[in-house]
Amino acid sequence: MPSYRAPKIAAAEITPERFFLDRRTFIAAAAGSLALSATKPSRAAALEASKSIYRVDEPATPEKDATTYNNFYEFGTGKGDPAANSANFKPAPWTVKVDGLVGKPREFGLEELLAFPLEERIYRMRCVEAWSMVIPWVGFPLAALLDRVEPLGSAKYVAFETVVRPEEMPGQSGYFQPLEWPYREGLRLDEARHPLTILSVGLYGKTLPNQNGAPIRLVIPWKYGFKGIKSIVRISLTETPPPCTWNLAGPNEYGFYANVNPAVDHPRWSQATENRIGEGGFFGANRRDTLPFNGYAEEVANLYAGMDLRVNF
Ligand code: MTE
Repeated sequence: MPSYRAPKIAAAEITPERFFLDRRTFIAAAAGSLALSATKPSRAAALEASKSIYRVDEPATPEKDATTYNNFYEFGTGKGDPAANSANFKPAPWTVKVDGLVGKPREFGLEELLAFPLEERIYRMRCVEAWSMVIPWVGFPLAALLDRVEPLGSAKYVAFETVVRPEEMPGQSGYFQPLEWPYREGLRLDEARHPLTILSVGLYGKTLPNQNGAPIRLVIPWKYGFKGIKSIVRISLTETPPPCTWNLAGPNEYGFYANVNPAVDHPRWSQATENRIGEGGFFGANRRDTLPFNGYAEEVANLYAGMDLRVNF
């Protein structure tokens, strides 16, 4: 068991986000009342919908599915391998080194990371393999951490690395090595600073289980799941696009951007629909349409204005 205190989400800790949403609603309502009659009923519906960006209005995936059906190749390539093979992984003590093009490079200890103001956010998640989940994450905006290290004007990208520990991660020590280690990911700085991008330290009100990327992992709800790098030990700000594990492994199949896009198929399968894990029927009637940017287009589409998303997939 990790020795640090589990960030159990008490009602009091969720409240600040409610305040945030209420404030947002209040501001939007104030702005709207200038243009619209304050009594128009459609206004209330529109404001209600704006909340779903942070707490999507769909049932959460059963916790059992979210913690036993995983991708974490450091523990094996099967969906059940991360839960089955990660018991000996030690997520504490832990440090994340933040360096590169920043004014104040430094390391953050786990206690310090857990001291960022945590929020619960219910995000729709979409894996490149055409399955999806709805997960109540606990975390804080990556931007809050970046602010502390003061990115330089020359910083354009953010690179992330997972820990390398073959003695605790059987997928890194076996005869068959499916990927090059460390697992790496990257974002453009504006994507990294977007308010929807969080570092997660928990789910379902509990500390992050090893198989989900303990003690800290990235969550970017409008991108395919492979961008959500787990068990992060290093974050570096760079001037050029950093190497990314799946992009290196299959550049024609996994792009740098990896924005969820039902109109751009994977070379070997369609991305138009998805199977919501926990609802049953992989090929059956329960398949649902995949949404552009995974349903977060209103928030993030402007980050890609003028870009050809078929080329920058
Ligand atoms: N991070 C590391 N270090 N290693 C991995 O194999 N798999 C990615 C991503 N982060 C992976 C990783 C993929 S493909 C997905 S879909 C998500 O983690 C899965 O996250 P989850 O198991 O918490 O649902």
